[in-house]
Amino acid sequence: MGRKVTPYTAVSEETKKKQVERMFDSIAPKYDFLNHFFSMGIDVLWRKKCIRILKRETRTPRTILDMATGTGDFAIEAVRMGLPSQMTAMDLSQGMLDVGIKKVAAKGLTDRITLIQGDSENLPFKDETFDAYTVAFGVRNFEDLDRGLSEMYRVLTPGSLTVILEFSNPKSFPIKQLFGFYFKHVMPVLGRLISKDPAAYTYLPESVKAFPEGAEFLERLKTARFIDLRAIPLTGGIASIYLGRKPGAEK
Ligand SMILES: C[S@@+](CC[C@H](N)C(=O)[O-])C[C@H]1O[C@@H](n2cnc3c(N)ncnc32)[C@H](O)[C@@H]1O
Repeated sequence: MGRKVTPYTAVSEETKKKQVERMFDSIAPKYDFLNHFFSMGIDVLWRKKCIRILKRETRTPRTILDMATGTGDFAIEAVRMGLPSQMTAMDLSQGMLDVGIKKVAAKGLTDRITLIQGDSENLPFKDETFDAYTVAFGVRNFEDLDRGLSEMYRVLTPGSLTVILEFSNPKSFPIKQLFGFYFKHVMPVLGRLISKDPAAYTYLPESVKAFPEGAEFLERLKTARFIDLRAIPLTGGIASIYLGRKPGAEK
């Protein structure tokens, strides 16, 4: 089990889930700017790589659940890159979704992407509803990771792929040292100034550090009954893509 890291530790009576929702509601108007600014646009390349994998390793999924969609970037990119699937884009934070709803409408994609509020750990869908599940920078925020993974498994059709993009901790010199300094000392200060949220960009490095990454995360996917497990480190290990499949023949 990873250590539980919450955004606003001082308000201890509030659950991690409530704090995460509140934090993302608060930074939603600045989220897209900060995301691309801090990653220098690399986050866009990482999402594109996930979508290329999805295209290569699945028969065309008819329906995809993009969990923790935030402002909808993953779902929008998937449609833009030619996946013909219907996207259900879900998030805990209505503030993030409101930004996403405007973006989706501005791009004329409302018939392809449905954004709805919901919790990854308690999905309002029947078993075997989706042909793929994607989540970018979301699993780290789940309050109960194993429950989130078990819900992920439940709503997938047999043979379907799950694609999980998450930050990880680079291991080798000099990326480890450079990124460590940037992540722990530069981002929290700039993030606080720009987002006006005192905790958001302190929570980010702390939650990444506490997250069970690499082989440990694959073990959690295995416990949730996924098979064909793979971890693909990106950009020196700053992020990783995790892949798993629900057993059974893909329809
Ligand atoms: C760092 S943002 C990632 C947004 C988007 N996927 C992206 O790639 O930019 C993490 C998102 O996870 C959402 N989240 C956290 N816990 C969640 C949960 N249990 N269920 C659904 N969404 C959740 C947050 O509200 C937030 O919008």
